[in-house]
Amino acid sequence: MSYSRLRSNADYTNAYAQSVAEPEAFWAAQAERFTWRRKWDHVLQWDFNAPQVEWFKGGRLNITENCLDRHLASRGDKTAILWEPNDPGEEAQRISYRELHARVCRFANVLEHNGAKKGDRVCIYMPMIPDLAVAVLACARIGAIHSVVFAGFSAQSIADRIQDADAAFVITTDGMARGAKKVAVKAIVDEALRTCPGVKRVMVVRHTGEEVDMQAGRDVWLHDELKQVDADRPAEEMASEDPLFILYTSGSTGKPKGVVHTCGGYMVYTDYTFRNVFQYEEQDVFWCTADVGWVTGHSYIIYGPLLAGATSLMFEGIPTYPDAGRFWQVIDKHGVNIFYTAPTAIRSLMAQGLDFVRPCSLSSLKVIGSVGEPINEEAWHWYKEHIGKDRCPIVDTWWQTETGGILISSLAGITDEKPSYAAWPMPGVQPVLLTPEGKEIMENEVEGLLAIKFPWPSIIRTTWGDHERCRQTYFSSYKGYYFTGDGARRDAEGRYRIIGRVDDVINVSGHRFGTAEIENAINESEWVVESAVVGYPHDIKGQGIYAYVIAEKPVTDPDQARSEILATVTKMIGPIAKPDKIQFVSGLPKTRSGKIMRRILRKVAENELNSLGDTTTLLDPAVVDEIKAGRV
Ligand code: WTA
Repeated sequence: MSYSRLRSNADYTNAYAQSVAEPEAFWAAQAERFTWRRKWDHVLQWDFNAPQVEWFKGGRLNITENCLDRHLASRGDKTAILWEPNDPGEEAQRISYRELHARVCRFANVLEHNGAKKGDRVCIYMPMIPDLAVAVLACARIGAIHSVVFAGFSAQSIADRIQDADAAFVITTDGMARGAKKVAVKAIVDEALRTCPGVKRVMVVRHTGEEVDMQAGRDVWLHDELKQVDADRPAEEMASEDPLFILYTSGSTGKPKGVVHTCGGYMVYTDYTFRNVFQYEEQDVFWCTADVGWVTGHSYIIYGPLLAGATSLMFEGIPTYPDAGRFWQVIDKHGVNIFYTAPTAIRSLMAQGLDFVRPCSLSSLKVIGSVGEPINEEAWHWYKEHIGKDRCPIVDTWWQTETGGILISSLAGITDEKPSYAAWPMPGVQPVLLTPEGKEIMENEVEGLLAIKFPWPSIIRTTWGDHERCRQTYFSSYKGYYFTGDGARRDAEGRYRIIGRVDDVINVSGHRFGTAEIENAINESEWVVESAVVGYPHDIKGQGIYAYVIAEKPVTDPDQARSEILATVTKMIGPIAKPDKIQFVSGLPKTRSGKIMRRILRKVAENELNSLGDTTTLLDPAVVDEIKAGRV
């Protein structure tokens, strides 16, 4: 048995047992599905202390050959990308595998024509249009390393990421439309590039048609470039462990880090999880509502579905435009069979009431999924009843930018599901719960720190330019384990429920931010002396951002001061990181050694004023009363 496709609970149990007993045989069998220019010499070599993890070493491949060329004979005319525009009046686009192949080859030739080659970093800052997928795949085609930056990040954030990756190439658009809002994308890139002298070429896709400044010698229009190249470009032969992409994500420190994934293992794992978690069938239309700027979009809009030869729906807009029924309308319009979204979207649409759901039949749906943050029971039941019509299994998929693909989830309709439980580890994934001292907890019905004790094929390989940081962040807290930063509960039968982050990371609407990162941004305001940021429970966003700010002088106009802080955060990170609440304080609760006691700040933000715990070790306990009294 290769257990390539799990069709029953028994399949899952057997596959899981084999994946633990003989991980190399298990993953070698999965890897056999693909086109390799050369097979691997070793399935797995690893050492979590270094850390060093190598899958399919010696193997040679190109992931785009597996996403595109491999399907041409049998699926050439099948729709690969089904694009739904922001404006429902505009026509949807269907791009077949044959056409996508040609567009990727052409774009790859443009990249090469402009000087990009294997190993170069290419920053992609674009809205959710087909050219974004084409750009990503074109990079992979020539072996350039893509670094997609979510098109909601500020110029400063783009600049930070371009500099960190030392990217000499940028791909962007003139503008974009999100709901009724227009954004001047190219102008944001121009601003970013003022501090990025290393950028040699900017390739601009015409999308909205608006006027943009083109800097001679640096900026070119994609449509002009495309005329000069042909539609054939053999895929570059890559080693299994050559980097495929960098994706920046936030951690407990102020500076986002570039998570690096490599070609072979990422390919095998995203395909395997896509087909099995969602129980994908050949004719299914799959829709993941994430943005390609996040890992979910990389793995389950582009790579996973295309590797499986699926039709992947890509949506340019937002769930509430033109009205809060848009998701449901699009499901009916395109006969979507598998729908994968985030709890924050479910909660916000739930709050809009059923009037937006009722007019839609949703009868095409077979499987519905959730990702990015814990899904509360109320939202789970609403999703199950009103969207899944009590017929569709829900997959609550837990994973991370660093894990590349889904690690814990039920398999749709195959293994059982339980509200708010991600449930079962995927084959090949060996989760453990640890005590704070690092001891493995063997019993069930317990809570602990979630760690993984054996590598899976799409585990993070390094953080770009700083391997030590990768070691410290993920492999040093608990020796011999990959530490996730999440806390989890295991129920009596062994299902996992993710409780949330145990580090200084907050998850706002499924977007990860380090508290230090937001504090650094706030502190850029001229008159801010110090700040402390914590998360607090938020009905729609999951977590909201609560900022305590010490100002240089007494704040006379708090509204004005708040809007200045919001503007600074927008400038430094982007509007998605704006604090929901800002409280001006004269001091912060610090220990005698100067450490901020965040526990107290969290309790106040959560309005748990009577359970602040011991405050006697504070330098100035009186500050706590002031903070309690001034809670916003
Ligand atoms: C959280 C997103 C509960 C978790 C794919 C993790 C979840 C972080 C779930 C990673 C889930 C993700 N249930 N929590 N199903 N999925 N998380 O890197 O805290 O953007 O560590 O990857 O999101 O966020 P990231």
